[in-house]
Amino acid sequence: MNKKIKLSPKQKQLVKQPFDVGLEVQEGTPRSGKTTGVHFRLAYLYTISRDTNHLVSAYNQEQAFRLFIDGDRTGLMHIFGDLAKIKHDEHGDHLEIHTPKGVKKVYYKGGAKANSVGAITGMSLGSVAFGEINLLHMSFIQECFRRTMAAQDRYHIADLNPPAPNHPLLKKYSTYKIHNGLIGPSKITQ
Ligand SMILES: Nc1ncnc2c1ncn2[C@@H]1O[C@H](COP(=O)(O)OP(=O)(O)OP(=O)(O)O)[C@@H](O)[C@H]1O
Ligand SMILES: [Mg+2]
Repeated sequence: MNKKIKLSPKQKQLVKQPFDVGLEVQEGTPRSGKTTGVHFRLAYLYTISRDTNHLVSAYNQEQAFRLFIDGDRTGLMHIFGDLAKIKHDEHGDHLEIHTPKGVKKVYYKGGAKANSVGAITGMSLGSVAFGEINLLHMSFIQECFRRTMAAQDRYHIADLNPPAPNHPLLKKYSTYKIHNGLIGPSKITQ
């Protein structure tokens, strides 16, 4: 990575905390480092996850690439460097990553439209990251939760700008408080 960054205590805490919550929500003021914390959290997850396919999503595909793959030069392609390469297969564009747990594929897709679901149906995912989840379509979010149901290490993370955490969308997620596949608490950090 050619951009030097030193994670803040909050970002460090996010990266290191256990993966024991079904949906983690990063909420905070604009430009406070939420998405950057998520980059390192995801990089950690991908290196230990037993699942091959993962998804990062945002308003549209361009935004998903910009937020997570490039990520203002701290995104996944920079963290993994020579171990990562942009590829394309029958499920779409993805970042292929070589990890100690094998090759992982991180698909990047848009999720703001009612028909965004079409791009992920039939996929089996280990994790989903939702960039600015408040801008995504509920049918897409719900389908993402279904796509991870068979995951060995099921995980979801979202970031959003205020208003939160009592945003109506988050209230709706209460139906989806997933804890290791069971009903459990969702967690608000930052
Ligand atoms: N620990 C850090 N050290 C140096 N730069 C950082 C650090 N954390 C974040 N940045 C930089 O600060 C800027 C804002 O970070 P980031 O995009 O993660 O914030 P955000 O809270 O997600 O912003 P937004 O509200 O726009 O979504 C980015 O350019 C990012 O690279
Ligand atoms: Mg952000």
